[in-house]
Amino acid sequence: MHKILSVAALCGALFGATAHAALTPMEAGRALYRTHCMACHRVDGSGGVRFAHAVSADLRAPALERTYRHQDALIERAILHGRDEDGSSLHAPMPRWAGRLSIGQVRQIVAYLHTLRVDG
Ligand code: HEC
Repeated sequence: MHKILSVAALCGALFGATAHAALTPMEAGRALYRTHCMACHRVDGSGGVRFAHAVSADLRAPALERTYRHQDALIERAILHGRDEDGSSLHAPMPRWAGRLSIGQVRQIVAYLHTLRVDG
């Protein structure tokens, strides 16, 4: 009994470690993006979905990176606190994600956003 339990524990530890290592920050960000952002910003990040007082933003590089002056911290602030590059409030229905996503999760999403690119 004791032996079976420790084998099970070892397998659990190994499987857990493998599953964790398999997911890069970018891949974790893609999963988070698809759960929390895609409905409004579309699967490719192109946005353009119309709401009463706003149109969802295009989140693809390089335009988003240029707008936020190539500072990930400013993109993170936009996501967490709904502030644009100059500190003005983003319009509803863009949620404020602070309290719902951790800073680590937001960094993973930003890593993923850098991979969504359009030329030009
Ligand atoms: C309910 C719809 C909705 C959801 C869900 C949503 N957004 Fe938005 N988002 C918007 C809208 C609308 C805007 C445009 C706001 C404006 O024009 O002021 C926006 C703007 C943004 C901006 C600012 C872009 C810029 O050019 O200034 C970023 C960054 C952003 N969203 C990221 C995200 C991320 C990341 C998620 C998921 C964690 C997310 N959004 C989820 C609707 C949404």
